[in-house]
Amino acid sequence: MQIGPYNIEGGVVLAPMAGVTDAPFRRICLRRGASLAVGEMASSKEGLRTTDMTMRRLACDAQDQLPVVQLLGADPLEMASAAQTAVACGAKIIDINFGCPARVVCGKACGSAIMREPQLAQSIMRSVADAVSVPVTVKMRTGWDEHSKNAPLLARMAQDAGLSAVTVHGRTRAQRFSGTVSLSDIAAVVHAVTIPVIANGDIDGPQAALRALRASGAAAVMVGRAARGNPWIFQRIRAVCSGRPDPGEPSLDERRLTVFEHLEEHLKYWMSEGCQERYAVRSFRMHLRPYLKEAACADASGAAGRLLDVIVRTDEAECLRENLETFFSSLRETN
Ligand SMILES: Cc1cc2nc3c(=O)[nH]c(=O)nc-3n(C[C@H](O)[C@H](O)[C@H](O)COP(=O)(O)O)c2cc1C
Repeated sequence: MQIGPYNIEGGVVLAPMAGVTDAPFRRICLRRGASLAVGEMASSKEGLRTTDMTMRRLACDAQDQLPVVQLLGADPLEMASAAQTAVACGAKIIDINFGCPARVVCGKACGSAIMREPQLAQSIMRSVADAVSVPVTVKMRTGWDEHSKNAPLLARMAQDAGLSAVTVHGRTRAQRFSGTVSLSDIAAVVHAVTIPVIANGDIDGPQAALRALRASGAAAVMVGRAARGNPWIFQRIRAVCSGRPDPGEPSLDERRLTVFEHLEEHLKYWMSEGCQERYAVRSFRMHLRPYLKEAACADASGAAGRLLDVIVRTDEAECLRENLETFFSSLRETN
């Protein structure tokens, strides 16, 4: 897939997930085959741009060769100015969020609410594309609801505004995360434009990725929730979509190495951001359960499951490391 001057190999992108895809998690996914990792949405609002959270989201990870910063907002000039700030901070691609269904976001007429106002959407896309020299992309849903599936129209507007790619989550805003993803609605977007389209929604493994690519004709896929506790999904999708065998689920050793690698990256990053150790450890809990749940369920003795409950309540880094070692040793013994 080509995004502006960049040739993106592998065609599998980590979706932006606010509160989840922080810099350490993006690194873990990039090292395991993600072609690109989109940052968590950052507000373009002038008043919010100096908050710690927005500054962190606008800042780029020096370890990421192609950082993508996603911006949320409804004011074309603010969006343009935020894009310039992000580029000054190192962003190599700017993504515009027209997909977020959250009430608080839509209450401010941002995210997917912009899909109801195509002229405003066009003006935002033009304003951002004119303001920066890096490629600009947009992420959207198929439309506001089933009566207004206007993603093909908006994608054409994106192309005319000079944008370099479009990601489509194959649900309407009204569906939020329920119902099924419509691959034919994504295909309609593919037919409407010549720029690359990235298919998103419910891709939980190599077979789902293949199905999405074949049914939609998209240039790449984007994976969100299925990457939680499962960053190996990227190398598996890459392999199968390029005709190689599926490397399959990771071994217990690989799982252990990854959890420790992620934990250490997470602690280093958040403590360098001024977070106390116990808060950094607590914030890693959201990753721990997805990483360990499946392995714990497979342990018929129930010991790993009981240990998991202890692990996700641990506050101290050293204690967490010890508990994790015990968890993996107990699984090794029962396997
Ligand atoms: C916790 C969470 C946070 C999300 N945050 C964002 C965001 O910041 N920007 C965005 O465009 N989409 C966001 N999304 C939507 C995802 O990027 C993706 O479109 C959606 O989860 C469907 O893909 P999936 O089925 O692979 O998860 C978020 C989704 C989740 C579950």
